[in-house]
Amino acid sequence: MKRRSFLGCSALAGIAFTQGTVQAESKRTKVFTEGGSFSLTGYRAALYSPALQQSLKVFQITDSHLTLDDERGAPWLDNSKRMAAAFQNNIHFEDGKTYTVPENFEMTLERAKKEKADFIVLTGDIFSFPSPAAVDFALEKLQATGIPFAYVAGNHDWHYEGLPGSSKELRDHWIAERLAPMYQGENPLCYSQEIGGIRFVFIDDSIYEILPEQLEFYRQEAASGKPLVLCMHIPLYVPGRGVGFGCGHPEWGAAKDHIWEVERREIWREDGHTPVTYAFHEAVFNTPDLLLVLTGHIHAASLDVQQGIPQIVTAHNACGHFTSIDFKPLDNA
Ligand SMILES: [Fe+2]
Repeated sequence: MKRRSFLGCSALAGIAFTQGTVQAESKRTKVFTEGGSFSLTGYRAALYSPALQQSLKVFQITDSHLTLDDERGAPWLDNSKRMAAAFQNNIHFEDGKTYTVPENFEMTLERAKKEKADFIVLTGDIFSFPSPAAVDFALEKLQATGIPFAYVAGNHDWHYEGLPGSSKELRDHWIAERLAPMYQGENPLCYSQEIGGIRFVFIDDSIYEILPEQLEFYRQEAASGKPLVLCMHIPLYVPGRGVGFGCGHPEWGAAKDHIWEVERREIWREDGHTPVTYAFHEAVFNTPDLLLVLTGHIHAASLDVQQGIPQIVTAHNACGHFTSIDFKPLDNA
């Protein structure tokens, strides 16, 4: 893994940093307001935009909750046992048959190959705890597809229940100890990859909060003028949604955290979100060139459109769910 400081997200070369500003109104490329279109039917989404130069098929996989483990995980059995017992009976959303979690993960990757996906986006909770065996399995299967992939963590990926330390500290520790290969050299907390003329921006919001360096990185990306897709685990707050949509939710905080003792983790902040997290939420939905937000976490599919920007929540891959997104230039519509 390339050594990049968590205190400085990888910045784009040649892009001027413009604190808190976005592109001029004339460059707006929102799909709904600038002549593009968007549809979501079941697990298939299509997005047409004049900002795109070529077609691209993306498979989003989230919340696979792989629980494979071996002797390397033995010292943490007490910390993994509750999540290891979860997701034992997984009824596939299409055929109604029961599969193991690894079977559903593999079948989804086969589907991505069969449908000639150009890019696989993994938006967290691919693992139920940071098991070396599960990471090895996922990497082997992903690499075997021959399809480029990118990953950002969810709140379970790095969580062994009942260990001392803040969520931020534990995230940093287990990413470095176990999850690092999943990032293929990128900065785990914020990075971007350009595929087919789209900048896919990965921001780790798995502690529900955004750090100052992540906000700065996002603002740099937003100022790039490139069409963006934002990929995170926890959905951004949208009016009417519960605290599961907990990145920027005004009711998020200790008073609404009812499972911190069950999950044996740090309780959510007494005072709610930090100003930085609220600033990130505001920046995202005011990004003119943001085509789409892809998230998971909720284990139920949903679509919200906020200020002209669609946010998809893809249901849990533990039951076979995925979303296939076709990005297309408007001329090909
Ligand atoms: Fe999950």
